[in-house]
Amino acid sequence: NMIDLPVIDEQWIQILSKICRQITDRSKPRPRDIENRQQILNQLEKQFQKDYPDCNLYAFGSFYNGFGFSQSDLDVCLVFKDEREQNSDEVIRIMQRILRAMKSSSTFDEVQPVLQAKVPIIRTRHRQWNIAIDISLHNMLAIENTRLLKKYTEIDTRVSELGYMIKYLAKFCSIGDASRGTLSSYAYIIMLIHFLQQIQPPVLPVLQQLNDPTKKTSMYKKCSKWNVYFYEDLPKINDIWKGENKLLTGALWVEFLRFYTEQFNYEEHIVTIRQIEPLLKHEKGWLRQTIAIEDPFELSHNLAGGLSPRNWIMIRRVLIRSREQFGVKPENIDISNPDMSN
Ligand code: GTP
Ligand code: MG
Repeated sequence: NMIDLPVIDEQWIQILSKICRQITDRSKPRPRDIENRQQILNQLEKQFQKDYPDCNLYAFGSFYNGFGFSQSDLDVCLVFKDEREQNSDEVIRIMQRILRAMKSSSTFDEVQPVLQAKVPIIRTRHRQWNIAIDISLHNMLAIENTRLLKKYTEIDTRVSELGYMIKYLAKFCSIGDASRGTLSSYAYIIMLIHFLQQIQPPVLPVLQQLNDPTKKTSMYKKCSKWNVYFYEDLPKINDIWKGENKLLTGALWVEFLRFYTEQFNYEEHIVTIRQIEPLLKHEKGWLRQTIAIEDPFELSHNLAGGLSPRNWIMIRRVLIRSREQFGVKPENIDISNPDMSN
């Protein structure tokens, strides 16, 4: 029951590309936001090192993966030099000690443990700057996937602009919150990268399948039992991979919506960014009637595992409606001055 939409006109694509740029520029963190977060990071690290001299604090998530909003939370993770935090009793003890220390600090507000999350976290808020903070323990895979996403944004500027578009849309339409049974912004970014790898010609390579043939370095790097290898030698990527897709960001945005409304085979396929070949649902036993999205490193993790069929219908509606709205030039837009408030 797909509607036949008219061919998209060139002028509309240019306006749409401008809108993508505007959304990105308005959403991006300002230098001040970055400074504040860096300061919180240093402050927290100092505080934790009083109790645990051998710990370090690492930041990950959208502030470091190239898809951060100025009001995004700060995701940090505490890492110990030895392996003791693997033990779950020890984790609880450490968490309790951190909780006590944070609660007695006047800098942080609303300190609370969140134990039902995929990894246990301590959630808090910087009182003065009103910045939400999630503290986890030894979350090494998240540090690695943050680096992977960042690498993809460095290959082509259209990647982050499209990322801001999908995150903006998801937030605006309330379909971007995994804790409320929809999808995390991380999951939407994986969907975007998958699309940019699959479109012909591709905008992005598959970094986890790429290697320098002259060097033949190992394509295996272990991190808590998973392979977290990916090709990182960015200045040299053009020697082994060439991006030939020259579509404007606006055209890619419409193509992205088309891909997930008209082309992707939800019945049989899994969204994956670690291989170019199709990945089949029945191979993994992920047979639910919603979208399936594979984490790039933790291959047993379906990022859409908590998505209910009802919420999936809601997300599909948003995508279909967006495809209709963005796919044709609106009647009432002032071409000379495209303003997002219209
Ligand atoms: P914002 O909405 O701007 O905060 O985006 P974000 O990417 O920081 O999302 P969030 O704060 O929810 O998650 C922080 C990071 O945790 C992600 O960027 C990933 O690196 C990592 N992560 C790994 N697995 C998951 C997962 O299943 N769900 C979520 N939400 N994050 C995951
Ligand atoms: Mg975050």
